[in-house]
Amino acid sequence: MTTVLGIETSCDETAAAVVVDGTDVRSNVVASQVDLHRKYGGVVPEIASRAHIEWLDGVLRQALEEAACGRDDINVIAVTQKPGLVGSLLIGVTMAKALSWAWSKPLVCVDHVLAHACSAAIEVLPPPWPAVALIVSGGHSSLYLVRDFDSVERLGFTTDDAAGEAFDKVAAVLGLAYPGGPEIERVSRHGDPKAVDFPRTMLAPDSLDFSFSGIKTAVLYHVHGPGKTSGGLEKLTPQDVADIAASFQAAVVDVLIRKTLRAVDRAGVDRVVLGGGVAANTCLREGLAASCAERRLTFHAAPLRYCLDNAAMIAALGYHQFVRGDTADWDVDAQAD
Ligand code: KG4
Ligand code: ZN
Repeated sequence: MTTVLGIETSCDETAAAVVVDGTDVRSNVVASQVDLHRKYGGVVPEIASRAHIEWLDGVLRQALEEAACGRDDINVIAVTQKPGLVGSLLIGVTMAKALSWAWSKPLVCVDHVLAHACSAAIEVLPPPWPAVALIVSGGHSSLYLVRDFDSVERLGFTTDDAAGEAFDKVAAVLGLAYPGGPEIERVSRHGDPKAVDFPRTMLAPDSLDFSFSGIKTAVLYHVHGPGKTSGGLEKLTPQDVADIAASFQAAVVDVLIRKTLRAVDRAGVDRVVLGGGVAANTCLREGLAASCAERRLTFHAAPLRYCLDNAAMIAALGYHQFVRGDTADWDVDAQAD
């Protein structure tokens, strides 16, 4: 039995978790900083780092307590080392190095995006591989072919704004609060997804990369008028806002689903998994599930608690890295990308 303590501080969630053998989640504590950043309309890196410093100790203690663990029960310390805000990453990495040294436990450095890619496997036995993984978050829109925990091939990635970033920016254009994804989803429930025909950027016919900056600009000009960046929002009714939000959401979800199916054709697998913060979106979860069912593909979405940033996914992937001897030295550094 290998018990891993996972630490995640790459962005604006301070998180710690205890996971046994990569799948049995004993605790999963997430302290979201959303309330600290909301009034600025996005994550302020300096505020994020300071909150991690203040909160991480308490979050770690709670994760150990909920798992009924002491230092002697922990076998491995796993931490998000990249990518993310470097000042935020540094807090988690420093804490992990200190614990690894003080407790004499091996240290494992985990890639946050690969952890999202593998998050659909937590609590799933046997793991759902091989699969195409669509990972959509605030910083990434990526497609992976996951053959196993140690064999993850990137098929496509973000060329500009990530899907979550586009949700956040479009929400700001529509005068909605941060974080924008849940807000767009909320107001879209009263909107008509066919009201505005926003562009679906597919790039080259064989491309598996994503580009959402075009649709972001299209929403901006739709709200304010061609070439204008202000003055239009006041003229919109709540119904207009709902219609624009629903049409935007439908266009983004459409592109995500079509590219995922493209990736399935390319990779020749019959399984699709979904993860990352935007995977919390019901329209995406249900739309991708329906498209997979139509094609007789097996579909598995990570549970919501493992979609948004969390440390269970770090501890889970950290376990598999530890088993194959992929441990780190104490001179390792946080890495922005
Ligand atoms: O994975 P995550 O917690 O952090 C990153 O690694 O970026 O993802 C956060 C992103 C934000 O952009 C947020 O707006 C988006 O996920 N998000 C959503 C929803 N819930 C969160 N986007 C669309 N619909 C949602 N329900
Ligand atoms: Zn994330």
